[in-house]
Amino acid sequence: MNSKRKPILAANWKMHKTAAEAVEFARAIQEGTGPLSDREAVIAPPFTALQAVAGVLQTAGYFPCAQNCHWEVKGAFTGEISPVMLGELGCRYVIVGHSERRHIFGETDETVRKKAAAVFANGMVPIVCIGEVLAQREAGGTFDVVGAQVDGALKDLDADRARRLVLAYEPVWAIGTGRTATPVQAQEVHAFIRQRLESLFDKSVANEARILYGGSVKPDNVDSLMEQPDIDGTLVGGASLEVESFKRIIEFQFSSGE
Ligand code: PGA
Repeated sequence: MNSKRKPILAANWKMHKTAAEAVEFARAIQEGTGPLSDREAVIAPPFTALQAVAGVLQTAGYFPCAQNCHWEVKGAFTGEISPVMLGELGCRYVIVGHSERRHIFGETDETVRKKAAAVFANGMVPIVCIGEVLAQREAGGTFDVVGAQVDGALKDLDADRARRLVLAYEPVWAIGTGRTATPVQAQEVHAFIRQRLESLFDKSVANEARILYGGSVKPDNVDSLMEQPDIDGTLVGGASLEVESFKRIIEFQFSSGE
């Protein structure tokens, strides 16, 4: 991390927890961890629990997040949720383009771009997920894949929005597999993404935008990941489902260097 960018520790619960379970967790994590001033804790429950979670996340530094949204504000889109509806609930962030959305539900860089723009247009901040699959990494294509995803998702974004953007680098081979990228492997890609932001926008945008790492983040590897200069937080699936484990992740230790 870099002390100029406020770290984000985000829980992506995917299709886990009923509304009652989510509320119980949200209360317990705030009581256990307390108010936050130098970092943000973000919780992305399923849509069905979002309103209830937003209602109980009242402690400083805790923010509700959606896992997805549609790009239109309303219309004949059966089963979809609009960014206006999420804004109304007090949602601060919306995850867009998670690899499960891309690979299971066919999302593309173009739908990710439209969703990110719609999230901004409705007063929230997108957490735009990018990352290569194992075959792409093994073929030496990581930078090409990630670079193209960044370009595709951010095309036409203006600099004021870009500096508030959150990107999440999630190598697909590390998601839910227990196989984390090493801090050095993650840092290498994060630095590349920041460089890409500088070429697409400018240095100040690149310095302000936050880039999270996701993929088998756990209590025992969060500190070493967060020591890397371009890792500004984590997007956590499995290890965010238990209070003690997510609490430890929120309480990662700042490195002494920054
Ligand atoms: P994981 O999931 O922490 O279970 O690997 C991360 C994610 O999919 O965001």
